[in-house]
Amino acid sequence: MNPSEKRPADRKLSDRSGLFFRQDYFDDPAGWLAIKTLLIDIFNVDISALDGLGGHDRTSFPSAYFDGDGRCIANLSAFSMPLMIDGRVIKAAGWQSGAVRPEYRGRGLYQDLIRITLDRCEERGLEAIVLYTDKPGLYTPHGFRILPQYSFKGPTPAISGTPRPARLLDINRDLDLLRKLLADRMPVSSRFAVADQRLMFLLNCHLIEDISLSLLADGEAVVVWRMTDNGAFQLLDIAGSRIPSLAEIIAALGIAPASVETLVPPDRLSWEPTVIEGSGSEAFMMRARDELFPSGPTCISPMAEF
Ligand SMILES: CC(C)(COP(=O)(O)OP(=O)(O)OC[C@H]1O[C@@H](n2cnc3c(N)ncnc32)[C@H](O)[C@@H]1OP(=O)(O)O)[C@@H](O)C(=O)NCCC(=O)NCCS
Repeated sequence: MNPSEKRPADRKLSDRSGLFFRQDYFDDPAGWLAIKTLLIDIFNVDISALDGLGGHDRTSFPSAYFDGDGRCIANLSAFSMPLMIDGRVIKAAGWQSGAVRPEYRGRGLYQDLIRITLDRCEERGLEAIVLYTDKPGLYTPHGFRILPQYSFKGPTPAISGTPRPARLLDINRDLDLLRKLLADRMPVSSRFAVADQRLMFLLNCHLIEDISLSLLADGEAVVVWRMTDNGAFQLLDIAGSRIPSLAEIIAALGIAPASVETLVPPDRLSWEPTVIEGSGSEAFMMRARDELFPSGPTCISPMAEF
């Protein structure tokens, strides 16, 4: 089935009086400030940390309505996010920052932006679109489907040999090194993972609390992890040119956790866990041909969340 066949046939015209359509406006400092203000006002999310990381994602293609005073009234952004799915790299986009100011809701503005952004994704030949939402009903009429998210739990693997200790990195001090590791990264899973998305990882280092970044002794991979309240080791992501086994990671960190939980599919970790159904409040949705959907239980790293 072609997802575009699922679009609502009746394309209601939105009430745009007094509004101006703008796209690809993040390079304009006033536009960039306007979208940051919209995201604080609607989601209470401050993306100012991006300014310290070189600014917005250059692959972004936002579509928006502004009012005469330069306020961003409605926005939907897409950005490039190639995905590894079942061993194949898929040309995909992530959608984010979808919002309409309360006083302008119910006029069809968001439906407009969805249709425009879908067309822009099709023009670019994108094979898949992914997004997070607490309102999946907004997207199902446009061919999106929920892709259930799982985590993976199991015993701590046995350690053999003499470990070479990892060293802790600092997101600010070690930014160049992190950028290099992200540029050369091998997807953390061959089942489902981002193949190339750097900025979101760096932004999430600022947004996600209590995480540690540990560089393995050979300098080829950084492990993102934390300990949970019940003494489990939680693995959030690995970025680098090789993916070490879970046993190597535990040994390098010099820890002895009660158990292990991974928030990435474990197929490259040489470890046999149990699959746990996710309980997150947001749905992860994907729009793609049926055959592109992953064949087994998967999840996407919290470091790729957008
Ligand atoms: C969700 C939101 C973007 C909708 O904006 P809007 O401009 O009022 O939406 P539109 O007028 O274009 O479209 C409304 C349509 O979506 C439907 N809709 C609205 N909220 C919905 C929801 N929670 N679930 C399913 N459908 C919904 C409406 O029924 C309407 O359908 P219709 O066109 O068949 O009548 C806006 O309410 C908002 O910014 N909310 C807060 C932020 C948010 O939740 N963003 C989406 C994050 S993924």
